[in-house]
Amino acid sequence: MNPINVKGTHDILPSDGPYFAYVREIFSQVAQVYGYGYIEPPVLEYTDVFVRSTGESSDIVRKEMYTFDDKGGRSVTMRPEFTAGVIRAMVGSKLYATADLPIKAFYFGPAFRYERPQLGRYRQFYQAGIEAVGADSPYLDAEAVVFAVTALGLMGFHDLKVKVNTLGGQQSRAAYREALKAYFADKLPEMCEDCHTRFELNPLRILDCKVPHDHELGLNAPKMKDYLTEEDEKRFYDILSYLATLGVDYEVDDGLVRGLDYYGGLVFEVHGSTKDGQDIGALLGGGHYDGLLSAFGGPEDIDHGVGFAMGVERLIAILKDQGLSLPENDLDIYLMPMGEKAYENCFFLAQDLRMGGFKVDLPFKSGKLGAYFKKAEKRGAKVALIAGDSEIEHDTIQVKNLQTQEQREVPMAELPATLDELFSVQDDHECGCGCHHDHEEGHCCHDEAEGEHHCCCHHHEE
Ligand code: HAM
Repeated sequence: MNPINVKGTHDILPSDGPYFAYVREIFSQVAQVYGYGYIEPPVLEYTDVFVRSTGESSDIVRKEMYTFDDKGGRSVTMRPEFTAGVIRAMVGSKLYATADLPIKAFYFGPAFRYERPQLGRYRQFYQAGIEAVGADSPYLDAEAVVFAVTALGLMGFHDLKVKVNTLGGQQSRAAYREALKAYFADKLPEMCEDCHTRFELNPLRILDCKVPHDHELGLNAPKMKDYLTEEDEKRFYDILSYLATLGVDYEVDDGLVRGLDYYGGLVFEVHGSTKDGQDIGALLGGGHYDGLLSAFGGPEDIDHGVGFAMGVERLIAILKDQGLSLPENDLDIYLMPMGEKAYENCFFLAQDLRMGGFKVDLPFKSGKLGAYFKKAEKRGAKVALIAGDSEIEHDTIQVKNLQTQEQREVPMAELPATLDELFSVQDDHECGCGCHHDHEEGHCCHDEAEGEHHCCCHHHEE
């Protein structure tokens, strides 16, 4: 059988692991700073969860869901996004009745969409996102944008394009929908099939059509800003002023409508491109929504939310393109047993060293010293410990600093002190959180006494 993965999916290999850990760790740290707690709804939900919330006019519900009947004949869907499942979980657990409002929840995990695979577009991809639910405030809307920009900044992004728009409240949207219908009515015969459906279900979605002719028509369509009620307009400009005060460099894009039906009020996206200018799509998208809690039987009086989700693969592609290079779990120590007896000793020594917090490995097939050094180099080990018959006889071990090539024989009893000495000098101050920023002098993160690794690089606290 060919080792082929399902079209549009990709394997996360050990060399990719540090990048996913990096994004997840920074995102989690920022989430905590902004007062968010972790939530993880299941991958599988009843299909209705997405149809009722994401919306029947969205491409996701119309063509992209992985939906099937389970063995009990129930229609289930692999989540195409998190928002619907998160709100379903909040209502199902009555979190809105017990938690402080807004409920602030963040998540990280895979989502599934049957889309045409291309650069930055997969059928299984990771999202990192937030939802703040149960309060209605322009400050909370602005905070969601600032959260997104802060997280991206700490990950090392620059040259980002932050696009914002408003879809207004219900009254504004109803007026705008009518205006769009009037504008597109006589153009419809020359437009794509999808736009015919959008015209009926949600004409705003026509503005998101990627067919060049329809997109062109959309550019001259009426603009949302001309149909906003005074109240909706004020709210949008309030949000913009908070963003400006907080130093967010945004642009208002009145063609931004987003692809999901639940949005009303603020919507936003952040775009990035590779060094050679390739647009790999939005790095994140989100906005304000009303009515999702009650769609699942939750209370109407607090039925508001705001959130966004980032596409983790897209973030990683750009970070790598910008030159971020994260090593794959480098070892501290590589053990080199020369002979049967030494092998047994090294096997148990490895466990002791690992319990002491060192990253340790040893060969699982006996070989020559030269081959062991090659393995140690491949694994990024900083120290080699070599044991043969002579060392066993004298209860010693050879300790080789692989960076300076210095080697000395030390009694086994002195090994812990020798390693402590070597690693306190050698510690290259890689951040324990995986972000691998160099630490400033005096901000060592290796707390020897506690045997713990603390992140103290301050990149997460700025
Ligand atoms: P979305 O715009 O559909 O929004 O997706 C958010 C992000 O997920 C996109 O900006 C993109 O980075 C990434 N993404 C989407 N589809 C793919 C794909 N096929 N391959 C790779 N990455 C992809 C939502 O999902 C909303 N639930 C966001 C939200 C949360 N709004 C309010 N709260």
